[in-house]
Amino acid sequence: MQLSKRAVEVPASPIRRLIPYAEEAVRRGKKIYYLNIGQPDIPTPAVYFEYAEKYKPSVVAYTHSAGLMELREAFARYYAKFGVSVSPSQIIVTNGGSEAVIFAMSVVADPGDEIVVLEPFYANYAGFAHQLGIKLVPVRTYPEDGYAVPKKEKFFEVIGYRTKAIIFSNPCNPTGAVYDEAQLKTIIEVAIEKDLFIISDEVYREFVFDNYRAVSMLTFEEISNRTIVVDSISKRYSACGARIGTFVTKNKDLYAAAMKFAQARLCPSMTSQYGTIGLLTLDETYTEQVRLEYQARRDVVYEELSKIEGAVFRKPHGAFYIAAKLPIDNTENFVKFMLSEFEVDGKTTMVAPLDGFYISPNAGINEMRIAYVLNCDKLREAVKILGLGIEAYTRRMA
Ligand SMILES: Cc1ncc(COP(=O)(O)O)c(C=O)c1O
Repeated sequence: MQLSKRAVEVPASPIRRLIPYAEEAVRRGKKIYYLNIGQPDIPTPAVYFEYAEKYKPSVVAYTHSAGLMELREAFARYYAKFGVSVSPSQIIVTNGGSEAVIFAMSVVADPGDEIVVLEPFYANYAGFAHQLGIKLVPVRTYPEDGYAVPKKEKFFEVIGYRTKAIIFSNPCNPTGAVYDEAQLKTIIEVAIEKDLFIISDEVYREFVFDNYRAVSMLTFEEISNRTIVVDSISKRYSACGARIGTFVTKNKDLYAAAMKFAQARLCPSMTSQYGTIGLLTLDETYTEQVRLEYQARRDVVYEELSKIEGAVFRKPHGAFYIAAKLPIDNTENFVKFMLSEFEVDGKTTMVAPLDGFYISPNAGINEMRIAYVLNCDKLREAVKILGLGIEAYTRRMA
C-alpha cells in the first residue's frame, strides 16, 4: 500500500521541525526560552469560561453550520466598532482562522490554479494550498525595508492566467509588518487590474503599535465583491485552543460556496462558540491592555536585538513577531547549535528559522523569527542569550 503523493509531499511545519532538539535539551536539564512559536502566554479572559459554563445545555448539539446566530451577531457588532458594516449572513464561524483560510482558498481556486502570496508568509498557507492542489506563487518582501509590500510590477511579473487570488496577513506573521493604506492600495490595484480575489488574514488586527493602524480590507467598499477576510480569536483573546475564527465576505456567491464546505464539516465546537460570545462582551479596555503589553515586549526585543552587530531588521509595528536577518550562515544550524551546544547558566533560547516561511529557493536561510510571547524580563534575558549565542556560533564557524 502506498500513501498519496499529497501526503508524502506536504511540507512539515517549520516551527515544529526542531522540536526533537529542544526535547533532547530539556532532557539534559537545559532551560529553554521558547521564542519560536506564536502561543501567547497571556491568560484567557475568565468570561470565556463563564459563558461556556452558563450556556450548558443538556445535549452538546450541532449548531448552525455558519455558527450560532447569537455569536455571528456579536461578531457583526465587533466589526462595526472599527467601522465595518457586515451582517451575520456575511459571516461563517470557522474552526479557527485556519479553516477560514482553507475555505477561502477552496472557493477561489481549483487544483492547478495559483494564489499569489506575500513572502515570507504564515507557513501553514503552504500546507493548506498543498492539500488543495493549489500552487502558491511568492512575491518577496525584504528585511531591509521592513518587509513592505513591493511595487505593482513585482506582482505583474508572477501573475499568469491561472492566478486567482492574492493572500497575505496584515499585521503580518512572521514579519510584524503593518501595511499602510498606500501598500494596501497597491494590492487592491493589482487585484482590480488582474481580476483577482483578495484573501486578507487579519487575525492580529488589534496588535498594532506606535499609532499604526491595521486597516481592514473590509473597509474598501469598491473591492467588497473580491474580498474575503480571515479572522480568529486565537491571538486576540489568547484562546488558541478554542478553535474559533471567522470567514467574512460580502460576495454572496463566495459565501454560498463556502457554506457548502461549512455544511460538510457540520459546525465548530458549540462550547467554544458560547465562550466566544463571552469574549466578545469585552471592550477596548481589554484589547488596549493586551496591546500595551505586546508593545512593551516589542520594545524590549527591539532594544536587545539592536545590540547584535550585523542583525538587519526594522522596528515592526504589529502582530507579536520580529523577523531579522542575522550575521550567520544558516539559522537552522544556528538553532540546533543553541539547543545542543550552547547555554548561559543552564539556559538557552529557541527562535524559528525563517526559511520555512518562504517557498522561494534558498530564501531566508539566515533570517529568523522571534515571537515575543514571554514577559519583558524573560524576553530581555532570552534575547541577550541569543546575542551571546550568535557570538559563540560565529567564533566556532571562523
Ligand atoms: C497569520 C495567521 N493566520 C492564521 C492563523 C491560524 O490561527 P487559528 O487557526 O488558531 O485561528 C495564524 C496562527 O498562528 C496566523 O499567524
